[in-house]
Amino acid sequence: MYVSDLALDDFRSYHELVLGLDRGVTAFVGPNGQGKTNIVEAIAYLSTFSSHRVAADAALVRQGTPGAVVRAKVVHGDRPTVVELEIVAGKANRARLNRAPVKTRDVLGVIRTVVFAPEDLELVKGDPAQRRRFLDDLVVLLTPRLAALRSEYDKVLRQRVALLKSAAAARRRGADLDLSTLDVWDASLAQAGAQLVSARTRVIQQLRPYVADAYEQVSAGQGGARIDYRASIDAVDEAPDPGPELLGGTGEAADAARTAVADRETALLDTPAVRDRLLAAMGRLRDREIDRGVALVGPHRDDVALTLGTLPARGYASHGESWSYALALRLGSYELLRDDEASPWGTDGEPVLILDDVFAELDSRRRDRLAEMVADAQQVLITAAVAEDVPSRLAGTRFEVREGQVTRA
Ligand SMILES: Nc1ncnc2c1ncn2[C@@H]1O[C@H](COP(=O)(O)OP(=O)(O)OP(=O)(O)O)[C@@H](O)[C@H]1O
Ligand SMILES: [Mg+2]
Repeated sequence: MYVSDLALDDFRSYHELVLGLDRGVTAFVGPNGQGKTNIVEAIAYLSTFSSHRVAADAALVRQGTPGAVVRAKVVHGDRPTVVELEIVAGKANRARLNRAPVKTRDVLGVIRTVVFAPEDLELVKGDPAQRRRFLDDLVVLLTPRLAALRSEYDKVLRQRVALLKSAAAARRRGADLDLSTLDVWDASLAQAGAQLVSARTRVIQQLRPYVADAYEQVSAGQGGARIDYRASIDAVDEAPDPGPELLGGTGEAADAARTAVADRETALLDTPAVRDRLLAAMGRLRDREIDRGVALVGPHRDDVALTLGTLPARGYASHGESWSYALALRLGSYELLRDDEASPWGTDGEPVLILDDVFAELDSRRRDRLAEMVADAQQVLITAAVAEDVPSRLAGTRFEVREGQVTRA
């Protein structure tokens, strides 16, 4: 798929912008702070309803104005669709599909994007929440209806934590605890949580070979990238947990370790079994949960383990290796989505690839490899402050971005 037209009203720094875009490579070039990222951020927002830069939508609306509109025409095969979102700070978004008002969730998945940006270094170096978000975004890109599951889980978790906190306070006061409501929330959390754990595990399995391949390519053969789902329920249930030394190693013990991890993973795909395990774990942990007023088990405590060779990437990988790993996670996602035949768009589920300010961060060898890998993508949108940072084989359309004016070079 590719985006052929983009229109912005009061989005970020733009009062009004209308832009025709081409297939293939397009680079937005101009000095810092001129509005390059704002353009690609708008397209990515249509795909996930979230920005790679901010958590709150308020920053997306041009200062001093009540709301923003992002409209894009996206072409699947040769079928055009117009997607429009109105962002009003503090209110729910309004969506239109081919000009007709629709529920916002009907717009999810129409435009698929994969964004790689400097912030992605946090996927490797940052806390588990970043990796959970990465994974959940991919779950939703692959299966848009699971967006509802994700918000259902968040809602149930918030309610249950609130209840645990008030139970903790009541216990400190020495008051009687009525725990029957908690039972109800335990059951809901286990129900939604198990579905989320299974969905994420499935995506990890799909993504694993793609990330290994992409890392191999980006790092010029210094491979050994392996991703695994780390479920808190496994830790609570004391499932076998061989470290990276074994997982990335060779020999009999390493093979046995990988088999143990594969079994552990298969068990996570059995949603009813995971639900029962979560429920039982919450039963055992209840006292501690009430003491601390925290929910100790469930997908909100899970992580993705990133291994490089026989070491965990986090805390061990060099800066360059961490960059390559982050890039491999994004390019791997891109390739997975491209191959995804279950896409609602049939064979044209290929996402728009957005590379925001990444060439400046890579050495020339990695730059060339990346250029080679993305050269045949249906649409790649690149931002760069310095034109020379964009490899010459990615000569495509160039836009000059300066003081909010976007001109075709
Ligand atoms: N809500 C907003 N209202 C008005 N201006 C905004 C808003 N959000 C961001 N801006 C402005 O947009 C500009 C940043 O744009 P953008 O991030 O696209 O820059 P860029 O060209 O990508 O720069 P760099 O090369 O440094 O990445 C800043 O000058 C900022 O003040
Ligand atoms: Mg930028």
